[in-house]
Amino acid sequence: MQADNEEKSMNFSVVILAAGLGTRMCSTLPKVLHPIAGTPLLERIIQTVNALAPKEVIVVYGYQGERLIDALKTYKNLVFAHQKEQLGTGHAVLQAMPHLRSKNSAELEKEKVLILSGDVPLISQQTLMRLIKAVDASTTLGFVTVATKNPTGLGRVIRNDFGSVIDIVEEKDATDSIRQIKEINAGIYLIDKHWLQKVLPQLQTHNSQKEYYLTDIIKAAVSENKKIITISPDAEYEVLGVNDKIQLAHLERIFQQQQAESLMKQGVTLLDPQRFDLRGELKVGKDVSIDVNVVIEGNVKIGSQVSIGPNVYIRHSDIHDGVHILANSVIEGAVIGAGSIVGPFARVRPGTELSVNARIGNFVEIKNAIVGSGSKINHLSYIGDATLGQGVNVGAGTITCNYDGLNKHHTYIGDNVFIGSDTQLIAPVKIGDKATIGAGTTIVKDVPPHQLVHNRIQQRTVQNWARDEKLD
Ligand code: UD1
Ligand code: CA
Repeated sequence: MQADNEEKSMNFSVVILAAGLGTRMCSTLPKVLHPIAGTPLLERIIQTVNALAPKEVIVVYGYQGERLIDALKTYKNLVFAHQKEQLGTGHAVLQAMPHLRSKNSAELEKEKVLILSGDVPLISQQTLMRLIKAVDASTTLGFVTVATKNPTGLGRVIRNDFGSVIDIVEEKDATDSIRQIKEINAGIYLIDKHWLQKVLPQLQTHNSQKEYYLTDIIKAAVSENKKIITISPDAEYEVLGVNDKIQLAHLERIFQQQQAESLMKQGVTLLDPQRFDLRGELKVGKDVSIDVNVVIEGNVKIGSQVSIGPNVYIRHSDIHDGVHILANSVIEGAVIGAGSIVGPFARVRPGTELSVNARIGNFVEIKNAIVGSGSKINHLSYIGDATLGQGVNVGAGTITCNYDGLNKHHTYIGDNVFIGSDTQLIAPVKIGDKATIGAGTTIVKDVPPHQLVHNRIQQRTVQNWARDEKLD
């Protein structure tokens, strides 16, 4: 019985307000779709609330609805509520109310609505959990506040002599003395659904912005003697909002610093944590060292004893133990086998799989290619749509001509093949094990194993020949 009650008290819906224009972003992209560490603001909030397993999540949208809905299409639990005109935060929540489901009136009594702003992206699960725990059955309204050094632009929390909340006053409506108040409303509320449904239609627009302020429900709750509680977040940055590109960059830096610290706590050496960016998920082993200006995107795994040089970009890749990625390399959608060395200035493209102890050197582009253990492509080559065996040596300037203008073709290179410099391999083509290709050869048909092939033109010497002298 007890457990059953507790379960019901966790029964809450989420409303995320995201209809604002975001004029100050000066962008054609809706504000809430701007990314922090590669993930749109709104998506970050959705990920955070989804981890709390809410009953439902309603997103109130306005501007560029299709774009927003499209950007969030992988989240199947979302319900979208359209706010045609941006008449204020109270009006925005009102648009969400018809979308909230209730099974029966008994359930309605116990339900809560968690309201968040789509432009406050770093709110943590822990803070929301604390709000949920603090709002017990006897509490009508709970919200998040912070005492901050810089409250400019935000709603101030007004308390009476006993410390109880009596109102929230927007900066634009505030007197000078109210503006001195440092405690601000973070715009995150957990409210009794039944009461919210009753009070929202009563909101008025008697304020400087002529808007329906959600914050006016505080006064309404006070006048009805309802219990109001407040909590504070673990860190102040959790409630910082994004209204322009300066604030976006500020939150990006805060978030990156958090991630860098978490990696360092896992033992990663970051030569400069301020010059490291992670836009996704990074899993690391032991003794990983990352030099400056490294950017990591998507899902990346790095094994143990790995070093990543300066100015390296890695996306959706799996870097095994003992690998060294040297300066200025770009690695995307690849597996780098244990003990391999890549770079400097290497470009490893999707579909590349290096086996153990492979070597990809400078100015090498490699795409959709399997490279056997110990094989080397050390300089200035293009290897695309290819399978290389073990112990292959690819000379400088080798090109797999994989594209005939219409289709892509594959090149197979057997074990221990030696390819001389400046070789073109016109695919589809197969080079047998231990074959040797002389420098400057254009391979147009399969090469049998153990053979030497070359088709370079004989060198001629012209006797007694002199270059014309340059005239002044
Ligand atoms: C709001 C609060 C303020 C609080 C601040 C915290 C009100 C009246 N004020 O102010 O007390 O300190 O948040 O960040 O609520 N939105 C809509 N439709 C609208 C208007 C807004 O969906 O008609 C959305 C916005 O997209 C945004 C959120 O609601 O995500 C907050 O609106 P915003 O205009 O940014 O409110 P603030 O002035 O920041
Ligand atoms: Ca705001």
